[in-house]
Amino acid sequence: MHNDKNLHRTYETTLYAQADTAQALHMEPSERAARYYIVSYGCQMNAHDSEKIAGLLESCGYQQADNQDSAHLILFNTCCVREHAEKRVFGNVGALKKRKDEDPSLIIGVCGCMMQQKDVAERLFSRFPFVDFVFGTHSMHQLPQMLRHVLRGERQFLVFESPGEVIEGLPSKRMQGVSASVNVMYGCNNYCSYCIVPYVRGRERSRESGMILDEIAALAKRGYTEIQLLGQNVNSYGKDRGGIPFAQLLQMANDIDGIRRIRFMTSHPKDLSDALIESMTALPHVCDHLHLPVQSGSDRIQALMNRGYTRAYYLGLVEKLKKANPHIELTTDIIVGFPGETDEDYRQTLSLIEEVEFSAAFTFMYSPRAGTSAASMPGQIPAALKKERLLELNALQQRQTQKTNAHYIGTIGEVLVEGCDQRRESLLYGKLSCFKMVYFPGDPSLVGTYQTVYIKSTKSNSLVGELDK
Ligand code: SAH
Ligand code: SF4
Ligand code: F3S
Repeated sequence: MHNDKNLHRTYETTLYAQADTAQALHMEPSERAARYYIVSYGCQMNAHDSEKIAGLLESCGYQQADNQDSAHLILFNTCCVREHAEKRVFGNVGALKKRKDEDPSLIIGVCGCMMQQKDVAERLFSRFPFVDFVFGTHSMHQLPQMLRHVLRGERQFLVFESPGEVIEGLPSKRMQGVSASVNVMYGCNNYCSYCIVPYVRGRERSRESGMILDEIAALAKRGYTEIQLLGQNVNSYGKDRGGIPFAQLLQMANDIDGIRRIRFMTSHPKDLSDALIESMTALPHVCDHLHLPVQSGSDRIQALMNRGYTRAYYLGLVEKLKKANPHIELTTDIIVGFPGETDEDYRQTLSLIEEVEFSAAFTFMYSPRAGTSAASMPGQIPAALKKERLLELNALQQRQTQKTNAHYIGTIGEVLVEGCDQRRESLLYGKLSCFKMVYFPGDPSLVGTYQTVYIKSTKSNSLVGELDK
């Protein structure tokens, strides 16, 4: 077993560099009120990385800009999980050339998963000579040092092959409103045959439980009542370091004063233990929702995907979950058009959707990723067929979503108010514990509070209610 204390390095070791950067910034009075804008792509994990990057930039003296046009520093935090995510980044970075020509003091950076693929990062860096710095997912904590060099006019390229230790203590500027994200682990060991994530995020590294719980307690003190625990496979939390398992971590988080809601993602079905199902059911602050990506309803495709479970096993889990908590809502991820997917395999996915009645599904057309084993599998499916399957699948899921929404009509539930509608301030929105979004009229001062709402009707992807008096 590892000694927890040896596995992480705190951010203090890089603080000296921060001071240098601040000095560099202060030498240029015009830079003192420099503003940054981060364009974030991809998953929750990346969104939370952007919060840390924002925290680092603020510790260097930068302030957040309202939009890209008013920023002195623009940073793209990229995703590469599917091809079109990559294309968008090249397009959006390229579009800044004109602005950089007009204003050479503009600083442009690109980071994140796509840049962790060294060949892609090199391609971008040479194709867009006006990009000032590029760094991968494993070098985020070096941002202040990089910036210092950039401010001296040196281009920077920092892509580390391996992740190194978990770095604790990075400042974070939370931008996601009433709910705060907390990493429990980084990386992924699963190597699903279609997926690039293990290559760009490295092997699983769990954070020390004490660090996680301290962070949650500090967030609770600052007024956050909902936390979202993040990891590519939270169910295997602790296994890499011989620490406490995820079920126990949940229990300890549940007991922190001030925390009223705990969500977590993502759960891999193969690692969803009975102990975790029990904890989820017994702990009052763990929400009535589980995101449980199934990817396909066909045993054959699940095996080719290297998912490590069968359709029957997945359906068995769903049964256990619903039995343990009849209020639970399930959401999922599905890929259509995986290499070799026959019409029959695809029908199996449709029938699984009908059987489970997911509350919502994130659906994707399979996108070949260089370096993954599925990219060279025989039987690649033509784009037109993938699209046809996706459209049919989405229509079916839409009907399922409506069906699950309808169960709520006439019920009363507790909503954590997240914000007001952009066009109508008096229209509030927020989620039930089960992750269903509810819209209802109310005063904007209620944002951040819990309200009891009566559900009157449904829309295609949300519920409509009124405050219960
Ligand atoms: N760790 C999470 C999800 C990570 S990526 C999990 O295991 O569920 C989010 C989703 O993107 C995946 O669940 C999958 O449905 C989808 N995805 C990943 N790689 C893909 C690819 N090459 N083509 C299409 N969809 C993909
Ligand atoms: Fe990708 Fe699979 Fe890991 Fe999820 S569990 S990040 S889909 S390899
Ligand atoms: Fe997330 Fe995309 Fe990276 S899904 S982990 S940002 S490749």
